Amino acid sequence: MRVLLFTGKGGVGKTTLAAATAAHLAATGRKTLVISTDPAHSLGDALGVPLDGDPAELEDGLFASQLDIRRLVDGNWQQLRDQLRTLLAGAGVDDLAAEELTVVPGVEELLALSEVYRLAAVGPWEVVVVDCGPTAETLRLLALPEALAGYLERLFPTHRRVVRGMLAGLAGVRQADRWDTAADALGRLAERLTALRAALADRSRTTVRLVTTPERVVTAETQRTLTALAVQGIRVDGLVANRLVPVFGPRRGAAALWLHTRRDEQQAVLAELAASTDVPLRTVPHLATEPIGVPALQELARELYSSADPLGDASVPPPLLTVSGRGRGTDARYELRIAVPLAPDADVDLARIADELALTVDGRRRLIALPPVLRRCRVIGADVDDGGVLVHFRPDPALWPRPE
Ligand SMILES: Nc1ncnc2c1ncn2[C@@H]1O[C@H](COP(=O)(O)OP(=O)(O)OP(=O)(O)O)[C@@H](O)[C@H]1O
Ligand SMILES: [Mg+2]
Repeated sequence: MRVLLFTGKGGVGKTTLAAATAAHLAATGRKTLVISTDPAHSLGDALGVPLDGDPAELEDGLFASQLDIRRLVDGNWQQLRDQLRTLLAGAGVDDLAAEELTVVPGVEELLALSEVYRLAAVGPWEVVVVDCGPTAETLRLLALPEALAGYLERLFPTHRRVVRGMLAGLAGVRQADRWDTAADALGRLAERLTALRAALADRSRTTVRLVTTPERVVTAETQRTLTALAVQGIRVDGLVANRLVPVFGPRRGAAALWLHTRRDEQQAVLAELAASTDVPLRTVPHLATEPIGVPALQELARELYSSADPLGDASVPPPLLTVSGRGRGTDARYELRIAVPLAPDADVDLARIADELALTVDGRRRLIALPPVLRRCRVIGADVDDGGVLVHFRPDPALWPRPE
């Protein structure tokens, strides 16, 4: 099972290319579901058919669905939220504050992403192509499971009994029982988040396709997104540059000259982008007519993939973290490689917090759990090079077992 997430700057063609990729996959014999998490209903517009929350088979092997966020919220979250609100109200918290306290930012998007993986697991499809909406939202969304799981882990199970005890004292045993129901539901939410986090970080299962256009302002954002996703440990396995101006005939006459100049400029921008990353780049021409409906999308996908497999290279690239070491005992030296592509002007900061490293690149922070051997070491330095960040460690004698 593969999950391909399409994202990129607003209006670059994410929905169109996600739909085209799905149509092409289905035409080459792989059962595919294309699904949009974007509340704007443009996937249906691109495919030329209205869609809803239940996947519909449009062609042989091509399924499509538009997630119904309202329904997901009502079905999953609203009930839990009501339970929490009643509970807080019962404990003497006023309505307005209870309302505020039970707002969890991003929960809607999170339910959408979790629904994508649920559908991926239950359906007959081999590939799920996701039209994710614009980059900024997608980055926030992809970081959410980790952020929220951390938050829930701090609440559970550490504080569960404390809260129950307090409630029983303050508001009586009935309130405390209600708390148990709510806490169970929150516990299930935490489990879902953990599973979602694992699915996103599974580099053989989930990959991102970044859509861009051959313009400097857009490719600059693409480069920042490449770094941000790498910091999050999410694999990007393809860049698609959409709307490349086609050129015909000689550079004669104002119109032809304009097209040639535009094309040259676009090629220069793409050459810079390609030189800055190892991620393969494909291009799509700017068509004279909007590609709407399955046949037009398939035509566009043929331009995009020609005879290549849209699923890309089956080999899984090296993981984000690798540890190497030399020497023995307390004289040993270890190195942790964090394979993030960094722009030359990237602002990188590293801090050790107990058994984790906090890596911050251009204001985006990620906590990296240290492998066990490194937890008993001290950080003695770090370098930035072409392969990302290299952190040097030496054993901490106080934590290192003495030889027998
Ligand atoms: N290669 C192309 N040639 C011609 N028209 C295109 C091409 N790619 C996309 N379009 C058209 O451009 C418009 C925007 O495309 P699309 O909706 O796929 O972008 P998007 O990135 O999903 O936008 P949004 O950020 O609003 O979700 C649509 O009308 C689509 O039909
Ligand atoms: Mg779109």
